[in-house]
Amino acid sequence: MPLVSMNEFLPQAKAGKYAVGQFNMNNLEFAQAIAQAAKELNSPFIFGVSEGALKYMGIEYTVALAEAAAKQTGLPIALHLDHGSNFDVAMKCIRAGFSSVMFDGSHHSFEDNIRLTKEIVKVAHAMGVSVEGELGTIGGTEDDLSVDEENASLAKPAEAIRFYEETGVDALAIAVGTAHGMYAGEPHIHYNIIEEVAAAMPISIVLHGGSGVPDDMIKNAIKAGATKINVNTENQVAATAAIREVLGKDAKVYDPRKYLTPARNAMVEVVKGKIELFGSVGKA
Ligand code: 13P
Repeated sequence: MPLVSMNEFLPQAKAGKYAVGQFNMNNLEFAQAIAQAAKELNSPFIFGVSEGALKYMGIEYTVALAEAAAKQTGLPIALHLDHGSNFDVAMKCIRAGFSSVMFDGSHHSFEDNIRLTKEIVKVAHAMGVSVEGELGTIGGTEDDLSVDEENASLAKPAEAIRFYEETGVDALAIAVGTAHGMYAGEPHIHYNIIEEVAAAMPISIVLHGGSGVPDDMIKNAIKAGATKINVNTENQVAATAAIREVLGKDAKVYDPRKYLTPARNAMVEVVKGKIELFGSVGKA
């Protein structure tokens, strides 16, 4: 199966009140682990690729890995630019074969965010590519993107509705209290914002910063209307812990497959757990 736009499966998630996971891809082992977990549970999913990951893997390898996963699993998989920072990078990704892009205009003024997002939506939709926008600023750190708690600001429902109506995005990330990276304590999620925004529009509401959020909170966010949930750090932590364990036990290991195989297996378990929690098992 070729890569698909998020519109191939997010409307079903909204109707069925479950969420589809965006699992960030950072290298071959991430791609294999995510695809294997989704295949075992017959779930659609989204490969999220940040600009940092894109730089690390190279755009050709990134697209080739995602296409190989789609071909090998037969699952509906979207390859999605995560937190795209400008028009050019979004176009570059679409040209290279991405089936979905996010434009994160949350650091611009509200009016500029609308204007810039609209420009990308126009081209992306002409190419059959889905677009995610962002409102409010999500705290925490992802790659070079860092927002401290003080500057993280919640999305305003009235603005979200106008943003959707004017831009025509297919999915909307709203800042509701989660953050990228692991949490020192527990996040405080504003379910009422998710509920109000999700009920006001037919598109998917996206929860970023899914790592480290307790299961009951994820369930409540889905109940409130979140239908796309992003996870990256938990896979990174699991993979690195597995590598540390192997290398810590035996200083003579030098074959990368000896430590990358347990790392990949650890990620399979993380992703399977999330797919079960999100309720997308059997929805491919
Ligand atoms: P985490 O790294 O906290 O899981 O967040 C991932 C994310 O939201 C990617 O955009």
